[in-house]
Amino acid sequence: MPYVRPYRRQMWEMGTAATGALVAVTTVPLVTEAVINGPITHHRGGLWLLAGLALLLGLGEGLLLCIRRWVLGRAATGVETDIRNDLYAHLQRLPVSFHERWQSGQLLSRATGDITLIRQFVGYGMIYLVVNSMTFIYVVALLLHLDVRLAFVAIVAVIPILVAGNRFRRDYHRASRLVQDQQGDLTTIVEEAAVGIRVIKAFGRHGLEKARFAGMARTLQSSSMVTVRLRGRFFALLGLIPNLALAAIVLGGAWAVTDRVLTLGGLVAFVSLFLMLVWPVESLGEILAMAQEASAAVERIWEVFDTEPDIADRPGAMALADCTGHLRFEGVSFSYREDGPRVLDGVDLDIAPGETVALVGATASGKSTLISLVPRLADVTGGRVTLDGADVRDIQLDSLRGHVGMAFEEPTLFSASVRENLTFGAPDASDAEIDEALETAQAGFAYDLPWGLDTRVGEQGLSLSGGQRQRLALARAILGKPRVLVLDDPLSALDVHTEAKVEEALARVLSGTTALVVVHRPSTVALADRVAFLDGGRIVATGSHHELLGTLPAYRAILAQEVDAPAVDLGDEVPRAEEEAGHSGRTGSELEPRWWEVTAG
Ligand SMILES: Nc1ncnc2c1ncn2[C@@H]1O[C@H](COP(=O)(O)OP(=O)(O)OP(=O)(O)O)[C@@H](O)[C@H]1O
Ligand SMILES: [Mg+2]
Repeated sequence: MPYVRPYRRQMWEMGTAATGALVAVTTVPLVTEAVINGPITHHRGGLWLLAGLALLLGLGEGLLLCIRRWVLGRAATGVETDIRNDLYAHLQRLPVSFHERWQSGQLLSRATGDITLIRQFVGYGMIYLVVNSMTFIYVVALLLHLDVRLAFVAIVAVIPILVAGNRFRRDYHRASRLVQDQQGDLTTIVEEAAVGIRVIKAFGRHGLEKARFAGMARTLQSSSMVTVRLRGRFFALLGLIPNLALAAIVLGGAWAVTDRVLTLGGLVAFVSLFLMLVWPVESLGEILAMAQEASAAVERIWEVFDTEPDIADRPGAMALADCTGHLRFEGVSFSYREDGPRVLDGVDLDIAPGETVALVGATASGKSTLISLVPRLADVTGGRVTLDGADVRDIQLDSLRGHVGMAFEEPTLFSASVRENLTFGAPDASDAEIDEALETAQAGFAYDLPWGLDTRVGEQGLSLSGGQRQRLALARAILGKPRVLVLDDPLSALDVHTEAKVEEALARVLSGTTALVVVHRPSTVALADRVAFLDGGRIVATGSHHELLGTLPAYRAILAQEVDAPAVDLGDEVPRAEEEAGHSGRTGSELEPRWWEVTAG
């Protein structure tokens, strides 16, 4: 296992300590033999010397065991940490499509529970497997030395254990894999319930959710019971066999002593040594179970490691130092699955440096899909996307993503401070730049949060309103002034008044930036130099808003619906008095009536 290799030195130290402890503990019965056959039977001297030796051996064993535990503990937690870090780094490299395919609970349980199982085996099971095997071989050799016939009884007793152990190994592996998979499913339920708690409560689903969880937990319990039964049966056998063998040895040994082929001291030593085999044999069950759990865990973790990131730097990928922002889609087609329908089918679109193009299309027409191809969140399945004439797949990912700023339909924030969320893509941004980005996105409310920009927002930014989150996500995208901006419906959650203000400020930012902006409202279309209409997987027309309105009934149908919609978006974004008074006070649109003035009027 490559993860154990860096800890070779510790393994050696641990092996040496373990061997020393083993020699010490197995020498004690031989000292006992010497005491019985010497000072006790023949009333010879030397009892104190032998007792002193036994004491020294005991002390030595204790010390060596202590060293062994310490060294091994360090190695085991080291292995655990290394695997966990590598797994997380690998998860970060894997493309979006991987994360869409995998349940998050499965990944969570692999990154936590399964790695812990591996640590337990490396830090406990593995060492006992080695120590117990060594003990077994060494003790059997000593037994053979003491009395061959009695030792033979001990060896024969091993055969049924080997047979049953082999079956146990196979069955237990299968059962524990099932348990671990189901633990992943259960984690998924908990995780989804935490994320979707509002929906669950709003729809009064908590009872049903509880029942769904209880059902899954019961399934997990019955799977766990399979492992319990397997353990129970195997452990019973492991308890029984050494006792049967012991009975045979005591009987046979008594005869041997009577026939004077074995001394009494020899028999006592033999029995004492044999008793030393009972623990290694009995613990075999626990160790094998642990080994199988760890091996199922390794299997589960390596399923993730073995997934190669298919969106990565190609050999010879170049860094794009100076980017003018010339973005081109050339015959781009895309489908989410190999056998799935083509979401995009021959998209051609040329966006000149500094130009802003609004992307309009019916819902599910592929707008989000198209713009996700620019920073390579997904790769085209046909054609190519170029930036400054270079296929984006030939540009180093870091370089490409450094030039492209993106805001998503779902504005995701992390459980970190507002500032950390903002500077996600531009860690070196100055306060002035942050201020400018917040101003443009009309996100001045951030300064009025209890701790200003240092206020921590909750997981997914849930402590903020939808419109607040969206404006922070927009500020994050434009911070650092990327050459290319791809914005997915960036103003959808804003009321018309705030929207107008953002648009005005955004127009200044967009004037020098190449931008592809998905828009749903006629008002936002005004931001663009040109509109591209996506229909049936391709761009069917480009032109000015008025040209398309005049010539394209499908375009008119989509944007006309929006015009008919109520002019006021009363969603979760209502401009608040303090917000208006603060950094986002009235700017250029001061002469326009505010929405409540409109409704009141
Ligand atoms: N991760 C995915 N896996 C499989 N199919 C997907 C995935 N994401 C989107 N699709 C499908 O691809 C098509 C285009 O989706 P896309 O999200 O690009 O539409 P859109 O134009 O952005 O729609 P909207 O205006 O509603 O945001 C849809 O039919 C959708 O079901
Ligand atoms: Mg979309």
